[in-house]
Amino acid sequence: MSYLKEFKKITTQSLQIMKKQGEKISMLTCYDFSMAKLLDQSGVDVLLVGDSASNVMAGHETTLPITLEQMIYHAQCVVRGTERALVLVDLPFGSYQSNSEIALSSAIRIMKETGAHAIKLEGGQEVLDSIKKIVKAGIPVMGHLGLTPQSIYQFGSYGVRAKEEEEANLLVEEAKMLEEAGCFGVVLEKIPADLAKKVSESLHIPSIGIGAGKHCDGQVLVMHDMLGINTEFKPRFLRRYLNLGELIPQAVKNYVADVKNQDFPNEAESY
Ligand code: KIV
Repeated sequence: MSYLKEFKKITTQSLQIMKKQGEKISMLTCYDFSMAKLLDQSGVDVLLVGDSASNVMAGHETTLPITLEQMIYHAQCVVRGTERALVLVDLPFGSYQSNSEIALSSAIRIMKETGAHAIKLEGGQEVLDSIKKIVKAGIPVMGHLGLTPQSIYQFGSYGVRAKEEEEANLLVEEAKMLEEAGCFGVVLEKIPADLAKKVSESLHIPSIGIGAGKHCDGQVLVMHDMLGINTEFKPRFLRRYLNLGELIPQAVKNYVADVKNQDFPNEAESY
């Protein structure tokens, strides 16, 4: 690894420096202690305790059902396993949309009860007041534009967002608004690469893309998808780095066979 600047501990300032120096930011989702240790030791810059836990950990179809309590539990586990990465936690659906007071109290609960370093929330103009209030309380906030899965029933599908000029122009404006409201970064999900490039170049804060092309200042993937645990999910933007969906069942089949054949445990594995 040859980074322009080695960071012992990643902070929101480190991410800002990375953008300035042209070093891309790596981010992965993470939901538990053991994986946090592995991912952190592997040099990931940001561990996102995403509300995608609702899908990949709890088996829900959408991110909507996960609660603030459940996000706090996942975040506590991740924080315990992390030394270097910045731990960023999603505010779940229903924990910030009502008003900015509720948003602030949800953000405070996450920071106070988990030891995480920052929060993320979805949306544009409609969440600006909440962002300002949370930032004013000293809590770093990351925005999230484009495909915002908490609004899936409004969109009707997980298709690419902002393909039309009107939505694309609004996204550019809202990204600027998020920056001005004090966000330290913004996730751009499933938007055309050219639009993500335009947004990234127009912002001082880093953009983190998922399905948004190579011009973003960083990239994020859901850990279960990139490790091939979740084999049914095959969007075009996903690169699989491992096929745990095959490796794990094979290892478990070997274990089951060894138990059945009385091959496990052997002498050396016994007291
Ligand atoms: O919850 C999540 O996994 C996310 C990423 C898709 C950015 O928000």
